[in-house]
Amino acid sequence: MRPTLRIPLHRGTTAHVCSLYPFSVQTSLGHRGTYVGLDLLAGNGAFYWDPFDSYAQGHITNPNAWVLGEPGNGKSALIKTLLWRQAAVYGTGPTGRWFAVVDPKGEYSVLAERLDLTVIRLSPGGTVRINPLAPGPAADHEPASKQTIRQAEMCTALVATVLERSLSPIEDAATFAAVEQLRQSSTGSEPTLVDVARLLTAPTADMATRLRRTSEEVAVDASAVAYALDKLLTRSLRGMFDGPSTVPLRWDGPGLVLDLSGVPVDSDALPLVMVAAAGWLQQLMACPGPQRMQVLDEAWALLANRHTAAYLQSACKLGRTYGVANLCVAHRASDLAAQADDGTSTAKIAAGLLADAATTIILRQAPDQLSAAATHFGLTEPETRVVGQLARGRALWHIGGRSALVQHLLAPGEAPLTDTDARMQGRSEAA
Ligand SMILES: Nc1ncnc2c1ncn2[C@@H]1O[C@H](COP(=O)(O)OP(=O)(O)O)[C@@H](O)[C@H]1O
Ligand SMILES: [Mg+2]
Repeated sequence: MRPTLRIPLHRGTTAHVCSLYPFSVQTSLGHRGTYVGLDLLAGNGAFYWDPFDSYAQGHITNPNAWVLGEPGNGKSALIKTLLWRQAAVYGTGPTGRWFAVVDPKGEYSVLAERLDLTVIRLSPGGTVRINPLAPGPAADHEPASKQTIRQAEMCTALVATVLERSLSPIEDAATFAAVEQLRQSSTGSEPTLVDVARLLTAPTADMATRLRRTSEEVAVDASAVAYALDKLLTRSLRGMFDGPSTVPLRWDGPGLVLDLSGVPVDSDALPLVMVAAAGWLQQLMACPGPQRMQVLDEAWALLANRHTAAYLQSACKLGRTYGVANLCVAHRASDLAAQADDGTSTAKIAAGLLADAATTIILRQAPDQLSAAATHFGLTEPETRVVGQLARGRALWHIGGRSALVQHLLAPGEAPLTDTDARMQGRSEAA
């Protein structure tokens, strides 16, 4: 008979046991932040997280996070409960947290109702319109030149997506000149994308001088941009972004949800609508304010082409400067990696998007995604195996240099916030 090793049972806290078995047991990440669930590698202790607290403690260098996972594994449920619990711990409004959610599936309405978030429902040809070129609260806090750059960036991302190519230097300069001209001319009314298209068709003498061309030459040079904008305004963005805003908004409230469920999730229009929506939100975010969470659910839609991916990257940059934490959701590692396929500039975008988020929360990945996940998130071999086998609600968290395996727990009262299975199972939404 084989002799077995018999040693007395030793029970210790993770603070001590991690020194005996450091790769499987770790100390807890602390009790700052909101409760998430069970820390499975720290003796099933409580796991807490908050991007701003993590930043304040020096665990991470920026407050942005990516949440990845196959559909149905609990990405949106995690975000909804995080916002709900943050509101309970930190409060909302000027002295607490401010939430902005871009919601392509229209599934944040219960959360919005509970937290009194303004819901702005945008749909093609609908009656609600927001204007991404409106000055917004940032106008009082930022030099006009910075806003011009941001708004011109948004216009070029939209146009490049429609044209399926980058803008030529003269097209780019003409677009910038048109946006700048609109900001400078004080007609009293707020500039809109329609005005940009109009100026590109009939450039002013000022624009022509700036571009060292005649007005007629500028109109010819920028004709593709003007057509692309016209196409956008009459199709993808019709009725949503083509005029002054129709929604009065309280900046000092708890926040807002942009419900984009009127735009089909798989349509070509969705990334364009998301870029315009993110452009509008930037005018709210680019100024001092409370700690703000900007959620881009289904952000993979922006990763499908490099122009919108690059725009997403620039939108995420605001984080540290203004106290905005971006939470972006995608399905799989290859959503982010796909950008690397067609040249070095796009590879940089993919790398930059990941580098700009100090926290990644990886839910279950399909077997064919595991090697991409390992490469892009720097997973160890055991981590890669675990990621392929995670149950719903369970995720590998990378917070700066630390890892944790966490089971997200839902409280009974949170079920109405998170239940996206109701329709699949034939239950009524209210049930
Ligand atoms: N931690 C969890 N425990 C129990 N059920 C969960 C958990 N996370 C999510 N769910 C349920 O799983 C379903 C799918 O979740 P959802 O967040 O919509 O997935 P995803 O956004 O990844 O597609 C929802 O009905 C939700 O209530
Ligand atoms: Mg979801």
